[in-house]
Amino acid sequence: MSEQDIAQAEEQRIDEAVQTADIAISVRGLRNSFGDQLIHDGLDLDVRKGEILGVVGGSGTGKSVLMRSIIGLQTPDEGEIHVFGESMVGRSDDEALAIRKRWGVLFQGGALFSTLTVAENVEVPIREYYPNIGPQLRDEIAAYKIRMTGLPTEAGPKYPSELSGGMKKRAGLARALALDPDLLFLDEPTAGLDPIGAAAFDDQTRKLQQTLGLTVFLITHDLDTLYSICDRVAVLADKKVTAVGTIDELLATDHPWIQEYFNGPRGRAATAAVSRHKDREQTQAAQSPSDGRR
Ligand SMILES: Nc1ncnc2c1ncn2[C@@H]1O[C@H](COP(=O)(O)OP(=O)(O)OP(=O)(O)O)[C@@H](O)[C@H]1O
Ligand SMILES: [Mg+2]
Repeated sequence: MSEQDIAQAEEQRIDEAVQTADIAISVRGLRNSFGDQLIHDGLDLDVRKGEILGVVGGSGTGKSVLMRSIIGLQTPDEGEIHVFGESMVGRSDDEALAIRKRWGVLFQGGALFSTLTVAENVEVPIREYYPNIGPQLRDEIAAYKIRMTGLPTEAGPKYPSELSGGMKKRAGLARALALDPDLLFLDEPTAGLDPIGAAAFDDQTRKLQQTLGLTVFLITHDLDTLYSICDRVAVLADKKVTAVGTIDELLATDHPWIQEYFNGPRGRAATAAVSRHKDREQTQAAQSPSDGRR
């Protein structure tokens, strides 16, 4: 090897190391199928540390299956998945434990345990991963997480059937935050909420992401969510991530689904609503510089 080759190899190694340091989730060549139904084929995706990545795609394109593959609930046919630089494929439960503690998940539909109260639901991951934490501290942590999501303290002893849809989502979020995660997976968190409830949930997600420095993998159909809180958006189509970037970058592509989705009547309405919201924020910030931030 010449000196130049060695220098080049070293440069490449440094580049890769820098890139890995910035990447929370890396998926390469993912293939998933059920029987003869092929869901993903050669899917690649990087989620950067500290970003909110929106994941969109038509119903049934495999968004939830992608999330389940990353968190180890679905074993892929092929492909590599790394979370915080650790390989997730073929890992035993024990080996993956340290990484699993670093994420929280809000499943599509909430998936709260109906026979447990909200506080008990939030305590489930604490009991599972930190069995040595005593009941008093566990209760305190649960109460803190419940308040963190904007739910009143009185929600703690309630059962899921006693909560509204929006409250159930927040309870699910509280459970996802139970272990102080670095990484949050949210599958359709605003589905079924009214627009005001959905916007409040989005604001809460953004606030938590900023204050806790979270990386968020956010599957959504909600255009307002994409416009208002996502740093980048990944589009699932044709069994892959066909495009990833800011909404402006996506709009510059000529992919028919992307154009239809963002430039259709709903997309245009969401753009207009978000720009009105941003104008209002800027006006408020100008009038009251110290209170202007969300
Ligand atoms: N456990 C399973 N067994 C068989 N097929 C499955 C399983 N899980 C998902 N699928 C199929 O895989 C495809 C992708 O499902 P997935 O739930 O990922 O879609 P999605 O993009 O999340 O859709 P939606 O937007 O409706 O939530 C669907 O056709 C679904 O029927
Ligand atoms: Mg889904």
